[in-house]
Amino acid sequence: MRVLVTGGAGFIGSHVVDGLVAAGHQVAVLDDLSTGRRENLRDDVAFHEVDLRDRAGVHGVLASFQPEVVSHQAAQTSVAVSAREPVLDAEINVVGSLHLLDGCVEHGVKRVVFASTGGAIYGEVKAPARAQLDWVPKPLSPYACSKLAVERYLDVYRHEHGLGSTVLRYANVYGPRQDPHGEAGVVAIFAERLLKGEPIRINAMREEGDDGCVRDYVFVDDVVKANLAAVAGEVQGTLHVATGVETRTKDIADALIAALGVECTPGRGPRRAGDLERSVLEPEARFGTPLGLDEGLKKTAEWFRGR
Ligand SMILES: NC(=O)c1ccc[n+]([C@@H]2O[C@H](COP(=O)([O-])OP(=O)(O)OC[C@H]3O[C@@H](n4cnc5c(N)ncnc54)[C@H](O)[C@@H]3O)[C@@H](O)[C@H]2O)c1
Repeated sequence: MRVLVTGGAGFIGSHVVDGLVAAGHQVAVLDDLSTGRRENLRDDVAFHEVDLRDRAGVHGVLASFQPEVVSHQAAQTSVAVSAREPVLDAEINVVGSLHLLDGCVEHGVKRVVFASTGGAIYGEVKAPARAQLDWVPKPLSPYACSKLAVERYLDVYRHEHGLGSTVLRYANVYGPRQDPHGEAGVVAIFAERLLKGEPIRINAMREEGDDGCVRDYVFVDDVVKANLAAVAGEVQGTLHVATGVETRTKDIADALIAALGVECTPGRGPRRAGDLERSVLEPEARFGTPLGLDEGLKKTAEWFRGR
């Protein structure tokens, strides 16, 4: 199939591109390289440097490539940026996505696979629960609002225009190529700092000195598997891409220190404004058993070491 991957120069998108090419699909990438990197692009995949906010540019790519499926990974991905600049977040994530969906309708795209957030869309997930797909979303950030808005627009476009869609609500994704310089992506940040011999800090869940927030960390290869199934039309509707395993920030620090074989005593920091205390999702059984954290962190540590 012809598949357009938005955000294909980014962390997850570039792995999705690799998976699609390996599965024999014809792939093109749309990305504005705002957080994505040229080195993540492949020579055998056409690249269109276009901003989602550029309606004509987005429509032009759809008109020329004529994809059957669009894998929509591009986004303003930072919760913190969305809190500081909610208008920017909405311009990219909501209006930019609408440019894409309108273009999909105009150019006969069959299906859109949308990268949504399971980690942020439910708000606080109180222990010991795992968020269930039938829970009413309770976004607590502009980023989560914008992702939920696109999910709802996809319902409307299915109803009004017959545009098929699959929504993948990712937990916290980690793995090779994740940006270690952002405000999120603790695995990448810790791996990079530990390798440079720089201190790392565990931000508190509630009180400084606790073991940090609880998250559900899923390895990027498992996210690719889910995307391949969604692109092929093997799964539909809204699904979690998660492990269902709760992990604290300190567990990540300990496992990475062990995987990298470095000496470090993590420091402790205060709670960061806007951080959810706990987010764990009920995993989708159809995606099989996800890779365990120790194994995934070892692979990630190896990649950061080899950079
Ligand atoms: N990483 C996670 O833990 C996680 C969790 C839940 C959902 N997601 C979603 O997965 C998707 C991929 O995230 P990622 O972690 O790979 O982040 P990333 O920043 O590496 O990838 C995002 C890509 O989108 C591109 N982009 C951003 N704004 C754009 C614009 N206006 N026009 C065109 N391209 C633009 C960036 O250049 C980048 O290549 C995003 O939609 C994100 O919201 C990620």
